[in-house]
Amino acid sequence: MRIFVTDFDGTEHELEALEGWRVMEIIRDYGLPIKAECGGACSCATCHVYVDEEWFGKLRPMEPEEEEMLDEAYDVKDNSRLSCQILMGEELDGLKVTLAPNPD
Ligand code: FES
Repeated sequence: MRIFVTDFDGTEHELEALEGWRVMEIIRDYGLPIKAECGGACSCATCHVYVDEEWFGKLRPMEPEEEEMLDEAYDVKDNSRLSCQILMGEELDGLKVTLAPNPD
């Protein structure tokens, strides 16, 4: 399985993805600049990504915790999600996301 992640320069990276991993972990382990400060506990919003339109509807709907945390994120769009709340599985093979900017 793989996912495609576009970084801040607009470069697309192809990352190998493992079943059951959080998309945030896959991006972080690959070395892309995702802060993910809370380590996946849904309490920081620094793992914010924009999900490609064709994939957005295939994700599991947001839990209330994710919605609340996303409210605090910077530059939220209709296709925003927290990547630590997206679990990798066969149905997401080929998923495309773009890293969202994080103010320092
Ligand atoms: S890593 Fe903190 S909310 Fe996702």
